[in-house]
Amino acid sequence: MRKKIVAGNWKMNTTLQEGVALANDLKNALAGKKVNCDVVVCTPFISVAAVADAVKGSVIGVGAEDCSANDKGAFTGEVSASMVASTGAKYVILGHSERRQYHGENNALLIKKLQLALANGLTPIFCVGEMKEERESDTFKSVIEGQMAALYTLSADDFAKCVIAYEPVWAIGTGLTATSEQAQEVHAFIRASIAAKYNKQVAENTSILYGGSCKGSNAPELFAQPDIDGGLIGGAALKADTFMPIIEAFK
Ligand code: PGA
Repeated sequence: MRKKIVAGNWKMNTTLQEGVALANDLKNALAGKKVNCDVVVCTPFISVAAVADAVKGSVIGVGAEDCSANDKGAFTGEVSASMVASTGAKYVILGHSERRQYHGENNALLIKKLQLALANGLTPIFCVGEMKEERESDTFKSVIEGQMAALYTLSADDFAKCVIAYEPVWAIGTGLTATSEQAQEVHAFIRASIAAKYNKQVAENTSILYGGSCKGSNAPELFAQPDIDGGLIGGAALKADTFMPIIEAFK
C-alpha cells in the first residue's frame, strides 16, 4: 500500500530561530493526536539539523529542499546529499519548479542528484509540473512525461524509493489551485506512465503528492481523489495552524 504523505516546503522563508520555533509548534500541535499520514517538513539547509533535533521522537520527518549534484569536494556553497543525511534528515525535494526556473535545473543534473540522494539513503520528493502556457496549449502531459524521464533512468527498486509531487507551476503560490479533477487527471496519467515504464505494482505503490496553493479548505477534496496521496505544501506549511488542517484532511 502506498503511503499518504503531507510534506511542508518552507522555501526561503525561515531563519534558524523561526524554523526551530515552527518545528516545535508543529510538534506540539501533533502531540497526542492520531495522524493518518506521514508528516514531513523540508527546511532551508541552515535549519535542517536543528529541526531534525527539535522533532526527534515525534512523528515528523525532516528533509532538505535540494542537494548538490556532486558528491564531495571543491564546490563552494553547495550541500551534498551525505551532508543532508548526516543531520538525521530522511527526505530531499528535487526538481522543484523554482529550482528548474531560477537555477536552470534539467534532467541531466537531476539524475545526478537523484542518484546521490538515493545512495545516501534519502527519499527524493521529485517535483514535476507544467507552466501556465503548457497547460493552455494542452502540451502538459508531454512536459510531465519529459520530466519523469529523469526518474525513469532509475531501476525499479530505486524508483520505488521515490515520492513524486505534481505541482502545476501556475498554481504555486498563486492561490490558483488545480481543481481536484484537473489534479486527479494528471496523477492518473503519471501513475499510468509509471505502470507502462515499470509495472502496475510499482505504479500502485508510488505516492504521488499534489502541490500548488493546497490549504486546509481544499485539501480534503484533493486528497479524496483516488490517485492523490497527499500534498507538498508551501505557504500553508509556514504556520502550524494552517499546516495542521491539511494533515487532518486524512481522517
Ligand atoms: P504553495 O507552494 O503551497 O505555496 O503553492 C507549493 C510548493 O511550491 O511546493
